[in-house]
Amino acid sequence: MSGNNYPDLESKSYQFNMRGRKVLPGGGSRSSIQSSPYTIYFKSGMGKHIVDVDGNALIDFNNNYTSLIHGHCNPHVVEAVSRQINKGSAFSFGSEPEIQLAELLCGRVQCFEQIRFMNSGTEAVMNGIKVARAFTGRPKIAKCENAYHGSYAAAEASLAVEPTDLSRGDPVSKAYSDGTPQGVLDDVVVIPFNDVTNSRRILNQHGAELAGILFDPFGAGMGRFPPSQAFINLLDEMRSAHNLMLISDEVIAFRADYHGCMSQFGVTADITCLGKIIGGGYPVGAVAGSTDVMSVFDGKDRKARLPHGGTFNANPVTMAAGLASMELMTPEAFKYINQLGDSFRSAIQDVLGQVNIKANVVGQGSVFAIDIVDPIPGATPMKRGATRLIEGIEADFINAGYFLSAGLHGTISTDMDDSDIAPFCDVLHKNLKSL
Ligand SMILES: Cc1ncc(COP(=O)(O)O)c(C=O)c1O
Repeated sequence: MSGNNYPDLESKSYQFNMRGRKVLPGGGSRSSIQSSPYTIYFKSGMGKHIVDVDGNALIDFNNNYTSLIHGHCNPHVVEAVSRQINKGSAFSFGSEPEIQLAELLCGRVQCFEQIRFMNSGTEAVMNGIKVARAFTGRPKIAKCENAYHGSYAAAEASLAVEPTDLSRGDPVSKAYSDGTPQGVLDDVVVIPFNDVTNSRRILNQHGAELAGILFDPFGAGMGRFPPSQAFINLLDEMRSAHNLMLISDEVIAFRADYHGCMSQFGVTADITCLGKIIGGGYPVGAVAGSTDVMSVFDGKDRKARLPHGGTFNANPVTMAAGLASMELMTPEAFKYINQLGDSFRSAIQDVLGQVNIKANVVGQGSVFAIDIVDPIPGATPMKRGATRLIEGIEADFINAGYFLSAGLHGTISTDMDDSDIAPFCDVLHKNLKSL
């Protein structure tokens, strides 16, 4: 056990947060760390273990929001990064690790003929949308209500909204951030996730103006609720009917399968957005597709249809880390973490059967989540997650030595094994009993 006592207003984390808040809005540089009453600061990580600035050890089931597929400081990755850092961290032109990582990824996924690297999943989604617009010459995109795709304004439309009551009308494209231009929202068509009938009707209505449909094949809430095969088939049908492009956001979903998440549905995407695991723990994003589609970036003999700069794009440190990390993700490694996910979910299900609480275990592959049926009817998963945080369930896990993502979401790394299941389930049982 960690000896944690969160929240502890005497802790170094609390002091760091108060100090940080003076120079960083909210005390840090990403909205997702702004937990109440303060965020924890970490000083080191090794494998599945992390240590906070107060010296408390935790098992990391957050893994930097799914990006650390091998946990922290994997020796193969550290070795590759150290080798590269000693040779240089950024050049104005290309480097071999960039080609090697592109070759590895294109060798694994049938619909990847070419790939373009950038520095975040947000950039990947933004560029995925821009590719679809440049290729089709059409302005609009469609996306699912409440689907998270990073921080690009169009991709944020109708995020964290009350699910639309379809008996009163179709989903409306709503701003997530203050100041989002109406013009941005006007170019986004919102469809209800996994609702084949209504999505078909809405997409047929707007099909001629749509450059593409942006969707996450891992589903809402970091894989909590996957799309149905019927829903993916509908998107495929709409592509043929309206000559639009399927933009698959596999920023998280790419951890599902050696051949990419869409291979599980037997449907190929025109554009795939990548991030997280392909950077081996370093900042990364990428867009992949056929040579024809990716030619919008190609400006060798003339101005590219989609010019795309970026000082740190494909920086060799990220490329070396990503290559080392993905080399370790063999078909066996994917099978291993996915099976471990099955074992976690089944053990969690047993715990839920033993406590008198309305809760479900959700998730797929190497992620799991405990969905406590909330007293707030119709609340979005995001709002439910926040409610639970306030109720202190996540805090109970922290105090028992486990760091989960908000909404009791767990991400498995290859550093974990079956021996991690029983201790986690004991803590879960204790925490749920005490609710
Ligand atoms: C599905 C999905 N798309 C895009 C992003 C944005 O990626 P990044 O945080 O690297 O900008 C995320 C981040 O969590 C994500 O979950």
